[in-house]
Amino acid sequence: MFDNLHQERVLILDFGSQTTQLIARRVRESRVYCEIHPFNMELARIKEFQPKGLILSGGPSSVHDEGAPLPDPEIFTLGIPILGICYGMQLMAHLLGGAVEKALHREYGPADIDLDLPGDVFSDIEKEGVRVWMSHGDRILKLPTDFVTMAHSTNSPAAAMGDPKRNFYGVQFHPEVAHTPCGKDILDNFLFHICRCRPAWTMKSFVESEIEAVRKKVGDDRVICALSGGVDSSVVAVLLHKALGEQLHCIFVNNGLLRKGEAETVQRVFRDHFEMNLIYIDASAEFLDRLHTVSDPERKRKIIGNLFIEVFEREAAKIDGAHWLAQGTLYPDVIESVSFKGPSAVIKTHHNVGGLPERMKLQLIEPLRELFKDEVRLVGRELGLPERIIMRHPFPGPGLAIRMIGELSAPNLEILREADAVIQEEIEASGWYDHVWQAFAVLLPVRSVGVMGDERTYDQVIALRAVESVDAMTADWARLPYEVLAKISNRIINEVKGVNRVVYDISSKPPSTIEWE
Ligand code: XMP
Repeated sequence: MFDNLHQERVLILDFGSQTTQLIARRVRESRVYCEIHPFNMELARIKEFQPKGLILSGGPSSVHDEGAPLPDPEIFTLGIPILGICYGMQLMAHLLGGAVEKALHREYGPADIDLDLPGDVFSDIEKEGVRVWMSHGDRILKLPTDFVTMAHSTNSPAAAMGDPKRNFYGVQFHPEVAHTPCGKDILDNFLFHICRCRPAWTMKSFVESEIEAVRKKVGDDRVICALSGGVDSSVVAVLLHKALGEQLHCIFVNNGLLRKGEAETVQRVFRDHFEMNLIYIDASAEFLDRLHTVSDPERKRKIIGNLFIEVFEREAAKIDGAHWLAQGTLYPDVIESVSFKGPSAVIKTHHNVGGLPERMKLQLIEPLRELFKDEVRLVGRELGLPERIIMRHPFPGPGLAIRMIGELSAPNLEILREADAVIQEEIEASGWYDHVWQAFAVLLPVRSVGVMGDERTYDQVIALRAVESVDAMTADWARLPYEVLAKISNRIINEVKGVNRVVYDISSKPPSTIEWE
């Protein structure tokens, strides 16, 4: 059974394309609820989902490959509109009486198409020279029965095809990517003119229905939430607080590896402003004690993760009548687990409370598991969370520990925290905060010579890391203006005692990573 049947929804069948999630995000941006499911979803499940339309994603296969992913052919008898994208279009041709052949040249990149049949999915789109993004090896040799050519390009005699009677459409290009400027219009035409969806999926409607669902699920029980101050757990906490009030108990563990002012901000926002039950645990001494002299990054991570669970479990056990643990799982984590051949986009996730629910016999409550990150931010705004939290950069669970190369020590932690605070202030003051994915300090296990006044110094080195990225899978170093770099360097060297040199990390990912450890 599907948990939340939002009023009008579209089903996206995933054939393994890198851009399947982008299709879903475009559809959601148009305020239509959609879900991604594997290509071989059973027909009965599809019927149960009651989609108003079906989108077949692209994929790396050829319909002629042995074991090529094919959907249940009965999807074409359901009487609902279908849009096939790239591989999705080819399998439509393959299954509906057309023919697909290997093209002589793989077509990859921008192409211009001319329309043969304007209207329908091409309503209000220029008739000639429409720029689209192609990425395919096969092409349509013969259209399926009852289909007509809707657009062509030099390389693709059938760049788009359709059977307007049955509301079946196929496009050889990718309307979901930004390189297809009219792609959003094509998807909107499909959603609104062909499927006749209404733009009813808003974060306001999500919040309302989720609050009701949570109340029903939880009843009079108590819920525990591990608050980290990051976007996801903050939104979970505020949403659940709105639904459950005093029944929600948030636990915030200060592991001593946080940024400057972090612990105070979390208490101010959640306890003072939102008036939540917030249990603040200062476990810094315990953490530092266990990390003392540890230098291997994976050991640091393990120690921090395990101790977090220990502390959290200890505190959670004090809350009587708690049967639920809230978690900020997002939709991309959920899709990963259903995709047929590995994830359509692998996103690195770090679950700090992994294993806890089973051990503590708690049931999980994951109110954000239907949402993409940008939707979570919108929900946060809807719930009145401060912009500073909504737009906050990601911060790793092991915190400053993995930004201090080599052995961990309390004095070095202080140096790193102060240097990092300067970077945060200056990145924000320069207007670069929202342009970079992350910006932070790394303390290197190196000393170098310097002069200060008449004295020779032999102090530490801070590396500044600032990257641009969309999902942390790849990243490039941010081209920060020299003035911003100069200001950060000057301030760190003048204000942070023990540092006499600042360097800028100009490596991209891959082959480097964002963090140094
Ligand atoms: P890398 O260094 O692999 O980082 O390029 C990718 C993203 O993951 C974050 N990161 C972590 N987050 N626990 C976390 O919660 C960790 O152990 C961890 N290691 C890396 C990193 O900040 C970046 O956003």
